Amino acid sequence: MSNQKTDGLKTIMVCAETDIPTDGSVITRSVEGQQIALARHNPGSKRVIAFESRCPHMQAPLKFGRVVDGEVVCPWHFFRFDTETGNTIACPNSEMHLATFTVEQRDGNVLVQLNSESSDRAVSQ
Ligand code: FES
Repeated sequence: MSNQKTDGLKTIMVCAETDIPTDGSVITRSVEGQQIALARHNPGSKRVIAFESRCPHMQAPLKFGRVVDGEVVCPWHFFRFDTETGNTIACPNSEMHLATFTVEQRDGNVLVQLNSESSDRAVSQ
């Protein structure tokens, strides 16, 4: 796996683009000790998005959620989160916030940007 550090951020290859399901479902990878959820922005699209793997409401595993139009739907109480802003859809005054990660797609691989202060650990599934 290739790692690249820039300005306190580390770009880490987490999987191949072909590992990301095309049906709106979500996979997770352990990266630098964090579980990161990955999905396509929309079923069938090439664009990949990344966000924290637990729902900020009550920690539901978002790997059982679905993504449509860049919004992930939590499998437990069906709150929706914008995966670009991390904001809750339809709850504008909510303090819940979903952490999101910048994704780069290069040569058929998916890379995510993390703070480089994280400890170095291998990527695992
Ligand atoms: S745990 Fe996700 S909406 Fe409640």
